[in-house]
Amino acid sequence: MSEPRPPRSLADRRVSQPAAKNLDARRRRRRRAARWALLAVALLAGAYGTAAFAQGSSGGQGGGGATAAFAQGSSGGQGGGGATAAFAQGSSGGGVGGATATNAPITGRGDVAAGRRLFLSGCASCHGDDARGIANRAPNLHGAGAQAADFYLRTGRMPLSEPDDQPVRAPVQYTEREIRQLVAYVGSLGGPPIPRVDPAAGDLARGREVFTSNCAGCHQIVARGGIVTGATAPPLQDATPTQIAESVRTGPYLMPNFSERQISDADLDSVVRYVLWTRAPDNAGGWGIGNIGPIPEGMVAWLIAIVALIGVARLIGERTP
Ligand code: HEC
Ligand code: HEC
Repeated sequence: MSEPRPPRSLADRRVSQPAAKNLDARRRRRRRAARWALLAVALLAGAYGTAAFAQGSSGGQGGGGATAAFAQGSSGGQGGGGATAAFAQGSSGGGVGGATATNAPITGRGDVAAGRRLFLSGCASCHGDDARGIANRAPNLHGAGAQAADFYLRTGRMPLSEPDDQPVRAPVQYTEREIRQLVAYVGSLGGPPIPRVDPAAGDLARGREVFTSNCAGCHQIVARGGIVTGATAPPLQDATPTQIAESVRTGPYLMPNFSERQISDADLDSVVRYVLWTRAPDNAGGWGIGNIGPIPEGMVAWLIAIVALIGVARLIGERTP
């Protein structure tokens, strides 16, 4: 037999209280709960903001955290050892994608002869039968080399449809075999071979430095392209490592070409590595709010905290004794 339970004093008595008073107590309880919830949100957001700030500062070795984090995100990136250090640290994890294989053509006599035939039907109308160029139509290709031919053909820039157009990346017009033959023919007229490039051997921080001072003015620091007088500097998301090297050495259209004295082969490896890196930069960490980085994320968190605190203040102010 179970013992009779003692009367549930508090709750039972409440039920018997007048309805108005009961309602008042419930409302007070609800308000108290809301206050605690808001306080919890505020504390959480505050903690997140602080953590984000801390994360930003851990990236830099010297100097203030904020400076280091900003340097990491900023486009300047050249000054201050701190900035470079932060970048080098942040970037060391980035892998290098993309094959490095340079398909150096096997230049046989047959290839050159076949290439010449293709040239006469597809290119001579602008470049002339002897490939010495036609005034106001197309330049002389003697000395352009396999380097330029490979770049212009594999990016679909040639054959151009109008001599006055800016050559832009387009669907490739020739088969792999035909490209090899055309490249062999143009290469046989003299000029630099297809450059070899090894982005894995490059240094990311150095690549960014060289890119910042030589390329970013036209292509932007993130390699997303831009406008220069008389031309469009394309985004660099599609170019293969070899094509990047070819463009740097050739200087297509209004882009200047860079000799080995200006950008050494080692620096070119680094630049290519940097360009590949811009396609999938390291995650800056934190929330998925667009990966805008620790400092702005911290600001978002503080904003939430401020709104929550205002809510708390209002609730407290509302309370009537
Ligand atoms: C004066 C502005 C300028 C500078 C400086 C410059 N470029 Fe360019 N770049 C261009 C223009 C314009 C084109 C488009 C050329 C064309 O239409 O054929 C181009 C094309 C390219 C392409 C071909 C992209 C594609 O998808 O076909 C690559 C790669 C490239 N540049 C890399 C570089 C690198 C690396 C540097 C620095 C070493 C650099 N550029 C410096 C203006 C510039
Ligand atoms: C409608 C005219 C036209 C046709 C057709 C044409 N080209 Fe060109 N080509 C040009 C012009 C204009 C330039 C200069 C563009 C520039 O400065 O980037 C050029 C530049 C080039 C260059 C770079 C030269 C250099 O010194 O860097 C190569 C290589 C080239 N063409 C190869 C070819 C080949 C191969 C074909 C045939 C498959 C071809 N072109 C068809 C007009 C033409």
